[in-house]
Amino acid sequence: MSLEMGSVRFERDVEATAGPAVGERLDRFRRTPSLRRLARESQVTTDDLVQPLFVAEQGPPRSPIASMPGIDRLSLGALPEEIERLAQRGVPAVILFGIPAAKDAEASGAWARDGVVQRAVKACRKTAPQMAVIVDVCLCEYTDQGHCRIIRDGVPAREQTLEALSRTAVSLAEAGADVVAPSAMADGQVRAIRRALDEAGLAETAILSYAAKYASAFYGPFREAAASTPAMGDRRDHQMDPPNAREALREAAQDLAEGADAIMVKPALAYLDVLCTVRARCDTPLAAYNVSGEYAMVKAAAAKGWIDERGVVLEILGGIKRAGADFILTYHAREVAGWLAERSRTG
Ligand code: PBG
Repeated sequence: MSLEMGSVRFERDVEATAGPAVGERLDRFRRTPSLRRLARESQVTTDDLVQPLFVAEQGPPRSPIASMPGIDRLSLGALPEEIERLAQRGVPAVILFGIPAAKDAEASGAWARDGVVQRAVKACRKTAPQMAVIVDVCLCEYTDQGHCRIIRDGVPAREQTLEALSRTAVSLAEAGADVVAPSAMADGQVRAIRRALDEAGLAETAILSYAAKYASAFYGPFREAAASTPAMGDRRDHQMDPPNAREALREAAQDLAEGADAIMVKPALAYLDVLCTVRARCDTPLAAYNVSGEYAMVKAAAAKGWIDERGVVLEILGGIKRAGADFILTYHAREVAGWLAERSRTG
């Protein structure tokens, strides 16, 4: 009998093995919890998790997001408490999104020295200096038309967009961000940002690029949370077309060539094949974004009592790890860190 597994060929003499045919019993390492622990191929731990947070310049300390139960928009005053809770649970990193008080054509709120995320970064640094701070670098929360790019005379202005993204990245790195994560899907954004950071003496700041970011319907709740739905049109003219997988490899290769230190696939669940393929081709850290719509679906079904939330969430995150992600941006992070701590106490 021979089994073809990848490029490895296994030969076994069935005649020589008394009893059931080889392959009939695959369950011997499933019998007890200890054997399952030994045989486990991958694992989700708190070390893998990044909690996304929405910080609002105006409004109450916490304002709930209807489609994302358990996630609130936080004021700058409420942020330190949330950071402390995450730090206590051992969550290693956050990614920050800002909701500015005012938007304009130049997205000036994105790069203002005292912009909402710049201030939020400083608050994180002060509250939990050991926690990694990642910042989303995009313009859609800051432009009055809700697009990720600067628009001039009705058309996207490439140079101005790269300039605004670079200024944003530099000002956030100056505020103390460890990692900038450009998510505008503007060609050349990684190169422009790397150059601007280096020129500003910020060579230590890492770039995590949203390399394969699809034009997905799963971003709906995020856009409600961040008030960033485009006033007209949509993002299909620059985000990736969902049916394409090979194109994701070109996006990843381009971002790495431009100087990305780590790359991301987003969303996660409908794109696990993409994650797996990108993993096989790249040696840098690889992230997956378990996005707002994915979170909302789980929360809605759990609220109805239709699924076991804990089981489903751990299985989803486990699938993302198994597909090849080194770390996961997920709205479930804080809760999961709590469950994992409980599990390690109770065994
Ligand atoms: C900004 C950005 C978006 C998300 C992350 N960064 C929205 C979008 O591209 O429309 C979505 C994240 C989520 O849905 O959780 N461009």
